[in-house]
Amino acid sequence: MSALSCKDLRARGEESGMPIFDPLSRATSLTLLALGLAGLAACGADAADPAPPLKPVAAGDAARGLRLLTQYQCGSCHAIPGVPAARGIHGPTLQAFGKRSYIAGRVPNFPETLAQWMVAPASLVPDTPMPSMGVSPEDARHMAAYLGQLE
Ligand code: HEC
Repeated sequence: MSALSCKDLRARGEESGMPIFDPLSRATSLTLLALGLAGLAACGADAADPAPPLKPVAAGDAARGLRLLTQYQCGSCHAIPGVPAARGIHGPTLQAFGKRSYIAGRVPNFPETLAQWMVAPASLVPDTPMPSMGVSPEDARHMAAYLGQLE
């Protein structure tokens, strides 16, 4: 049984008229299939037929991030350990940012959310005083990697 894929099980269920493996209507299944979610929707956590792996998010490069933090002049508003001349006081210090639970006190601090914050802070906290800095998503990933390892 365990060697059978989820698809096999569903096909058998359909042949024998058993509805147990396909509680969804055929049309819904096809729609989900088109979305690449069929495995998940029909089988849940069936280990014999795992859902396709999520696309991995490439980790940023902290060394590049350090250079970019200088280039974008984040230090005009923030104190950032390791970044030359980053002594700004308009924004909060980014010291030990890797240990912070929240960005701006409100958004959980994960590499993805931190990168998103740098690209468009107001998309996460609409009334934030931090301006959009014209940061590309790729540059943001690298800077998030640098800030994320500050302890
Ligand atoms: C014009 C000043 C200014 C510049 C330039 C600026 N920021 Fe900010 N930043 C702020 C302010 C003000 C806040 C506080 C926002 C809030 O609490 O909503 C902030 C918040 C942050 C936070 C969250 C801090 C915390 O304590 O949770 C991070 C991370 C951050 N900025 C990164 C950057 C990065 C990276 C750059 C450069 C790409 C940058 N900032 C450029 C003003 C600035």
